[in-house]
Amino acid sequence: MSRKYRIAVVPGDGIGKETVPEGLRVLDAAARRFGFELELAHYDWSCETYAQTGRMMPEDGIEQLRQSDSIFLGAVGWPGVPDHVSLWGLLIPIRREFDQYISLRPCKLMPGAKTPLANRTPAEIDFYVVRENTEGEYSSSGGKMFAGTEREFVTQDAVFTRKGVDRVMKYAFELAMTRPRRKLTSATKSNGITFTMPYWDERFAEMAKSYPDVTTDQFHIDILCAHFVQHPDWFDVVVGSNLFGDILSDLGPAVAGSIGIAPSANINPEKAHPSMFEPVHGSAPDIAGKHICNPIGQIWSGAMMLEHLGEKQAADAITRSIETLLAEGGPRTRDMGGQANTSDVGKALAEAVAAA
Ligand code: NAI
Ligand code: MG
Repeated sequence: MSRKYRIAVVPGDGIGKETVPEGLRVLDAAARRFGFELELAHYDWSCETYAQTGRMMPEDGIEQLRQSDSIFLGAVGWPGVPDHVSLWGLLIPIRREFDQYISLRPCKLMPGAKTPLANRTPAEIDFYVVRENTEGEYSSSGGKMFAGTEREFVTQDAVFTRKGVDRVMKYAFELAMTRPRRKLTSATKSNGITFTMPYWDERFAEMAKSYPDVTTDQFHIDILCAHFVQHPDWFDVVVGSNLFGDILSDLGPAVAGSIGIAPSANINPEKAHPSMFEPVHGSAPDIAGKHICNPIGQIWSGAMMLEHLGEKQAADAITRSIETLLAEGGPRTRDMGGQANTSDVGKALAEAVAAA
């Protein structure tokens, strides 16, 4: 019996409707080539749904998604619906309900992509940012007192649980073990934040004892940001709290060049719940509907999804095809200096995967 995975497909808004079909085209080629089956369930949840029904997804939306092995998402957000409404109506509930406590982003300079950093080559920018995705600084603990008076004050507690800290660190160490350099960097700020960050450092040092083969170091977040720009070659895997990881996971893809090719994953490593795979970019209203957007971020996200599902060979075939296409002057979209349209790129990659 062939391996079969149930995928919930949510194109969402704007260019998500253009990139997701190309992602599916390449996933389909990979499934045929590597002998597994994808059973797709399509959901048209978007800002259009919101305009019609007042909700981004139906009341039982989470229950519907729960049946799937993974969620393949395009982008969410469109002018006319406030971003916090679209975000909290769809993306955030999925991340929280499914305990997707890892946010994972490769930051890899692809051949033919232009980094804003001078004279850097693909060999020098190739690392992962692992962000804690459920607690830390982004907590719902805190409040406002004496509002409108002279004594007015607000607090927001940073919440670091041993469980939450240890599990993201364990994931990062395990990821480092799969990489040739076996190096892990921790983002901290224990000089200024004197309870939670020393605790973060303590758990990092404790976890490091179980991974003697991994080289570790740590930097305060401010200088770490500078190092991302000045010494991207120092990094292999970088782990950060929710806030620090948020900052680094935008900075990382930025040093690697085009937003159109950057992928991301929201992972529940235990597979107790579905994980979600989506490009880093948003719905790009400025170019939506013109079929000129770059589908590579979506397609690479599909590769991350296959790797999570255990189809490593197929995932590698997709990422290798992307590298070959970019290195050998295959079709590329305008953001990368070409003239190709969205499906030219998708078709070329599907063919390359079929022939892998
Ligand atoms: P954006 O990523 O949609 O666009 C930023 C710029 O990058 C635009 O000039 C766009 O044309 C370009 N771009 C983005 N993706 C591209 C691609 N695949 N190929 C070529 N060019 C590409 O970010 P923006 O404009 O800040 O947000 C637009 C909407 O998307 C907002 O509603 C925002 O909330 C939403 N958004 C959703 C995200 C998600 O679903 N996870 C992430 C980021 C933004
Ligand atoms: Mg961000």
